[in-house]
Amino acid sequence: MRSLSFVMVLAVSLVCGAAAAADPIIIKFSHVVAKDTPKGKAAERFKQLAEMRTNGRVRIELFPNSTLYKDKEEMEALQLGAVQMLAPSLAKFGPLGVKEFEVFDLPYIFPDKAVLQRVTEGPIGAQLFAKLETHGIKGLAYWDNGFKVMSANRPLHTPEDFRGLKMRIQASKVLDAQFRALGANPQVMAFSDVYQGLQTGVVDGTENPPSNLYTQKMYEVQKNVTVSNHGYLGYAVIVNKKFWEELPPDIRSALEDAMKDATRYANAIAQQENDEDLARIKASGKSDVYYLTDAEKASWRAALLPVQKSMASRIGADLIDSINKESAALGYK
Ligand code: LMR
Repeated sequence: MRSLSFVMVLAVSLVCGAAAAADPIIIKFSHVVAKDTPKGKAAERFKQLAEMRTNGRVRIELFPNSTLYKDKEEMEALQLGAVQMLAPSLAKFGPLGVKEFEVFDLPYIFPDKAVLQRVTEGPIGAQLFAKLETHGIKGLAYWDNGFKVMSANRPLHTPEDFRGLKMRIQASKVLDAQFRALGANPQVMAFSDVYQGLQTGVVDGTENPPSNLYTQKMYEVQKNVTVSNHGYLGYAVIVNKKFWEELPPDIRSALEDAMKDATRYANAIAQQENDEDLARIKASGKSDVYYLTDAEKASWRAALLPVQKSMASRIGADLIDSINKESAALGYK
């Protein structure tokens, strides 16, 4: 009798054990861009690495192109645990209450990506991530995209050309100030609504790296693109803090390794993806792609650099100074 009950207990435990082993940990990863963008490709790479390195004990469910959550909903969904991972633009943390992230939106704050990398991979980036934790969010990595171009249905050569234009922005007070400094009328709009907003004239123009302008087909409804590189757009890969801390330590460690390699990949492909998409926009003939003259660049800087001062009270003068010191460390004035 005893041997029969032992066998039954053993059988049940094996079945439960097998069932438990078969149920992977699900990580819903939502983002708002197309798959064939730097962020879209990096998310795919993270999925591959994470599932491989956890031997299938984790399954990453990707929801690109706002298919699960749009701009306004995704951060709250993460905090509620309805989704476990996001990679929002650094311009989208103001509404959460961490307005210091808008330092990344300041016109001309990064002379090049080397300075950007010193910031994101150094103490400044870590300090910014620490500010997310009281909001139930943990920052895992910074993913690159690129410097932004401007687009509209009129030539944008000088600051005066922006006067009166309704320009779509991400939810960032710095970007609001940027376009007001150009005499334009900034309008916050979810990324998923921008193409239609441009097509219908709800907004006249926008800014983004070429990879977004191309993959969302915005260039088809924007006759003029100016390669201004006036500002930067990148990402913070973030997770629900409680979910992350409750993962089995070996799983968390494997995911951290996967994220490190996915980040390396993201930052390695971003510039080329943007260069190739800008070339595709030019080749399409749908938009006139214009490069500023040195004199025009100087007039844009004169109009936009004061935004660094006017937004210092919001972002923190010390934070702005610390980034400008990183530029100086690489020889920039
Ligand atoms: C935007 O809203 O313009 C960008 O943040 C979209 C993105 O995530 O690249």
